[in-house]
Amino acid sequence: MIATKRNCLAVILAAGESTRMKSSRSKVLHPVAGRPMIAHVVDALAAAGISDIALVLGRDADKVEAAAQNPAVTSSVHIQTERLGTAHAVLAAREAIAKGYDDVLVIFGDTPLVTEAPLTAARAGLAGGADVVVIGFEAADPTGYGRLIVENGELLAIREQKDASAAERAITYCNGGLMAIDGRKALDLIGRIGNANAKGEYYLTDIVEVVRAAGGRAIAVAAPEEELTGCNTRAELAVIERLWQQRRRRQMMLDGVSMIAPETVFLSYDTRIAQDVTIEPNVVFGPGVTVESGAVIHSFSHIEGAHVSAEAEIGPYARLRPGARLGAGAKVGNFCEVKQAEIGAGAKVNHLTYIGDAIIGEKTNIGAGTITCNYDGINKHLTRIGANAFIGSNSSLVAPVSIGDGAYVASGSVITTDVPDDAVAFGRARQENKAGRAVLVRERNQAAKAARKKAAE
Ligand code: UD1
Ligand code: CA
Repeated sequence: MIATKRNCLAVILAAGESTRMKSSRSKVLHPVAGRPMIAHVVDALAAAGISDIALVLGRDADKVEAAAQNPAVTSSVHIQTERLGTAHAVLAAREAIAKGYDDVLVIFGDTPLVTEAPLTAARAGLAGGADVVVIGFEAADPTGYGRLIVENGELLAIREQKDASAAERAITYCNGGLMAIDGRKALDLIGRIGNANAKGEYYLTDIVEVVRAAGGRAIAVAAPEEELTGCNTRAELAVIERLWQQRRRRQMMLDGVSMIAPETVFLSYDTRIAQDVTIEPNVVFGPGVTVESGAVIHSFSHIEGAHVSAEAEIGPYARLRPGARLGAGAKVGNFCEVKQAEIGAGAKVNHLTYIGDAIIGEKTNIGAGTITCNYDGINKHLTRIGANAFIGSNSSLVAPVSIGDGAYVASGSVITTDVPDDAVAFGRARQENKAGRAVLVRERNQAAKAARKKAAE
């Protein structure tokens, strides 16, 4: 919800070198729950009803711009060629800010846990008459953060760690890096910021003292630390992933999903799971999964790009790859892999099977060890199996091939031509029994053993 009718530009700062990330790409491209960090920030802005975004980019600008695309927002790109500090970075977006906005919100591209609440709170502070609103948090460990110096409800200054006195370093109320600025004054205020500090950088945080010197007002609004957790290193990235997972699992459980050991279930940013689904321990969801009501996901399953209909059952140890679509009540059991295939309602694929590029009808039973041979080394081919069919164990279905409704395939068959409806296909050598031959074999073996023993004496 938008707090006011005021319009807003969000400036996302993401021009940093990501030095501490030790990475060949910009840190904001690193994924959290399978989605680039910066995309999470854009999602939060969109959720807060903010649709105009200025991206301040440096390294990997094209890739970051692509990762920040979102149908709910319009974004402009501004390249910060020199990295002279956060105030300098905001001024890279001068052209966008100069278009004239009531609110300018500055946010960092490396805070992917932010939600709409602090964004809206910062804007509400402007609507309430402040010229600058800083979102702060109580830090468990304030090391490295700018400290908020507050007196009688007024924010007097933000002191960066390197410039802080011992007394200031003892402050635990910190700058979360999210700031709302009166849009009509922003360029003037930021333009007055100097670089006389320990790092010789233009600090956006100095805007607090600048606005007060100009007779304006700055305030701080508190938000939970989690929302403002920044990502500078891969260790922090892992912490952010953990916090994201905890938050989403909790939300899912509150929405009616059962998880026996939630801390062992890993979700993607877009995982959608309906009420009354049960998820056993150790399950991983890649992107693009929807699971409908009443389905059960047994332990150690790995699911991505798949749709699981109501009352279906997966695993234990099942792998659903992109394009797997399970009908209602279908079963995909242990050590089965399904890719780009439709498994009809009530069909069963229960043991040690690979189904790729296939359409399987309702209530068909696929025996243990069945393989769709979908790939000829160059192309992928389709296997079609009708409804109520029965595929005997350890059969190879060499695609392209069709097996009709109600057909049977004998165990161990290699099926290379179509099987009509209700036919039984034997695609294997006929068995031959030699009467009494086992006795001869045994006698011969025993004679050989005796000869060996004698030679050794
Ligand atoms: C900053 C704040 C600090 C706050 C902390 C919260 C300043 C001076 N300090 O410190 O008060 O507690 O964030 O996480 O603002 N960036 C650019 N161009 C630049 C410099 C930075 O785009 O020239 C971008 C970075 O890519 C990053 C963001 O600005 O996304 C913050 O920069 P960073 O160096 O991480 O600031 P901190 O030292 O963490
Ligand atoms: Ca940072």
